[in-house]
Amino acid sequence: MFPRPGDLEEIIARSLCGIGPQARAVMVRIPSDLPRVMVDPPIMERVIANLAANALRYSPSGSPPLVTASARGGRVVLRIIDHGPGVPEADRDRIFAAFQRLGDTGSTIGVGLGLTVARGLTEAMHGTLEPEETPGGGLTMAISVPAASGPAELHPDSPAWLERERTGSALRQTASTAGTPSMARC
Ligand SMILES: Nc1ncnc2c1ncn2[C@@H]1O[C@H](COP(=O)(O)OP(=O)(O)OP(=O)(O)O)[C@@H](O)[C@H]1O
Ligand SMILES: [Mg+2]
Repeated sequence: MFPRPGDLEEIIARSLCGIGPQARAVMVRIPSDLPRVMVDPPIMERVIANLAANALRYSPSGSPPLVTASARGGRVVLRIIDHGPGVPEADRDRIFAAFQRLGDTGSTIGVGLGLTVARGLTEAMHGTLEPEETPGGGLTMAISVPAASGPAELHPDSPAWLERERTGSALRQTASTAGTPSMARC
């Protein structure tokens, strides 16, 4: 685990690409002036992939999940919003326990570890992962992580610089621009 300043838009784009073609349905709406986040980018990618895979699985066709982000008080909150059946408030703690799968234990999809791991990894990055009700119905997963204070405070030897050089701007084109919802493309 190595938290360093990362571009959330890039992290989201990589994460959705990793899920596969079905993730093209996911809409992404990120403000263009969002601060960088202090996370371990590959770990954050994994967390988002877990949550987005769940959201896709439970989304009715024609109503794809939406990923949004906002900054407030030194933190950035990423929301993965779906319009599926949601989880009753009484069960919202339980879904984070290992091997808990509500109502569909006979199915062969997943083992029920995704959320346990996602929350553990998020907390290791000084973040939180909390379920919310989507207005109008569905589940929203809110990940709050620290905002990075900006590139000016990076030490020139920091691996974050190297990471930036390597990733370049190619991935930028895969995510949204200027706060407009867009389809993630790989
Ligand atoms: N977006 C969602 N909408 C409705 N229910 C959900 C959603 N995400 C998770 N759940 C419920 O929480 C349970 C636990 O989710 P979790 O991601 O931990 O396991 P899984 O997806 O079943 O398996 P795994 O992630 O290990 O492949 C799910 O089985 C489901 O009952
Ligand atoms: Mg899962």
